Amino acid sequence: MANQYFSLKKTAEMFGGQHLKERIEEFEKSGVIPPSSRYRSGALFRKGWTINDLPTIGSKLGFFKKFKKSTAMAVFTTKGGVLKSTLALNLARTAALHGQKVCVVGLDIQGDITTALGFESDLDNQEDLLEVIEKLNRTKGLSDLFNNQVRLTEIIQSTDIANLYLIPETPELVALNDSLSNINRREFWLKEKVVDLLKEHFDLVIMDCSPNWNKLTTNALVACDVLISPLECKINNFRNFRVFRHFLKEFKDEMRLRFENVFIPTRYSKNRKLSQDILSWYRENVPGCTDHGVRENVSGEEATALNLSLIEHVPGQEIAKEMRELLKEVHGRVDQYHEYVELREPDEVMMTPRDQYQHEVRQWSF
Ligand SMILES: Nc1ncnc2c1ncn2[C@@H]1O[C@H](COP(=O)(O)OP(=O)(O)O)[C@@H](O)[C@H]1O
Ligand SMILES: [Mg+2]
Repeated sequence: MANQYFSLKKTAEMFGGQHLKERIEEFEKSGVIPPSSRYRSGALFRKGWTINDLPTIGSKLGFFKKFKKSTAMAVFTTKGGVLKSTLALNLARTAALHGQKVCVVGLDIQGDITTALGFESDLDNQEDLLEVIEKLNRTKGLSDLFNNQVRLTEIIQSTDIANLYLIPETPELVALNDSLSNINRREFWLKEKVVDLLKEHFDLVIMDCSPNWNKLTTNALVACDVLISPLECKINNFRNFRVFRHFLKEFKDEMRLRFENVFIPTRYSKNRKLSQDILSWYRENVPGCTDHGVRENVSGEEATALNLSLIEHVPGQEIAKEMRELLKEVHGRVDQYHEYVELREPDEVMMTPRDQYQHEVRQWSF
């Protein structure tokens, strides 16, 4: 495929707006970012950059730079079709386009994020069925890692962005879910054998979950620093959300987890009163709910279908602007979480179980 070029205008819009044009040109002149290439656009020659150049430009000028510390995010709520995979895709691609080293871990047997990251997208065009089957069988995943048949590095796949990687979903995830139920420390396998190791090499690990409370999801909750939960702005999600919040709180308390929970309103429409009322209710009543969200939108749907983030697909449109504001908000929350953990950690690490007990007793007596 011929190189796709991102014009100066498009590049500026992706990373924050037209006002960045001058700075991009200055940075180009001073060699801070790679030089642009000339490409033909209709009858004209324009200057632009390829996708390989964007992470350097994003890391210098963008709005989603590296976090204070390596971060694991899980995207989960107990409902399908509420933009979990879409948010995972937008977070992953946007972070990678800002120079963050990102690894996405697919945990939903439906495999939407694996498809969205273009994995094996060429298989449909191949003619020879046997070759296709062989290729599919060669793809190893988390289940093979669990069975000690491969090492972690062997299941990490590259994507079209050089610093964005994927552990793809394979059909054997179903078996892994069962196997996890039969081991000691069954909630900790993903954290200890996968995510903590990935965090040593990646700035951001994103786990895209299924809508079910299964072992893969509870493993993701234990492994994450930040949980992203879409809140669909539709009436039938209201009850679902209350039950979800109850189970989540119970699980978090029992497992003594301290992940940050970011609730993101999704699929609202600006011209429907009920949808607006639900959105306002969420914002007022759900602690951790973001000010920005993702509304129902055709370009949004298109972007996901084309395997692109919104800032790549329609950088100048309002919907992309909203996504940029949302992602900035999420970024702020991640940084806040790391600050909070840094402040608390010394106490907790130094406390032995006996200290902990006495500490608790002291607290009870007041
Ligand atoms: N802004 C949007 N408005 C409406 N539909 C969208 C939008 N963004 C993505 N979609 C589409 O909504 C569908 C469900 O999204 P998805 O992210 O797969 O949900 P989930 O992972 O929660 O099941 C997908 O077909 C996706 O392309
Ligand atoms: Mg999904």
